[in-house]
Amino acid sequence: MPHLIAPSILTADFLDLRKEVEMVNKSEADWLHFDVMDGVFVPNLTFGFHIIRQVNEISEHPLDVHLMIVEPDRHLEEFRRAGANKLTVHYEACIHLHRTVQMIKSLGMDAGVAINPHTPVSVLEDILPDLDLVLNMTVNPGYGGQEFIEHSYVKIRKLREMIDKSGSKALIQVDGGIGPDNLASLRDAGVDCFVVGNTIFSADDPLEMISRLKNI
Ligand code: DX5
Ligand code: ZN
Repeated sequence: MPHLIAPSILTADFLDLRKEVEMVNKSEADWLHFDVMDGVFVPNLTFGFHIIRQVNEISEHPLDVHLMIVEPDRHLEEFRRAGANKLTVHYEACIHLHRTVQMIKSLGMDAGVAINPHTPVSVLEDILPDLDLVLNMTVNPGYGGQEFIEHSYVKIRKLREMIDKSGSKALIQVDGGIGPDNLASLRDAGVDCFVVGNTIFSADDPLEMISRLKNI
């Protein structure tokens, strides 16, 4: 399967969001990624339902929503109504992760679980068969434009092996510090889907950058 590119609108120009979404529509990207932050689970605040709902009206790509929030169960239904097609919660934020994952799926969305850089991949072993997506954070979540954590390669290789052994159909996604310099080696280590923010939205030609990342 060719790898997937999911531009993250976190670092897009919010004064010209329509233009940014239309650029992604025209591009070779596969999904559109949203970073929802609550100022509690992570030190930053971003956006919520309203932005997702409005972008959903014009986006031609599946909406991939990454929740960096505590108590995500309270809002799953509302994210679905806003247009989320894929919903990823953090392992570290969910006490009853199995229940949360089942709720996401029963609402008709693909279910993802994200882990922070310090969280071992082994904690996902028994939930893997239920997942559509595993998001291994390659920076500490909270901000765009941070430096990629090199230790991530070790985790990706382990995760790849776990998923292949278990027969799970979960895709491996990485998020944070991704660009032309590390994409190919991460793909070789087993990554299926790349979230890319800064590298795309601060490029002189974002369309060309997406194409470059897609065809690496
Ligand atoms: C980080 C977010 C990422 C971020 C990635 O907390 O989850 O999605 O936007 O951005 P870059 O590609 O700029 O590191
Ligand atoms: Zn993200």
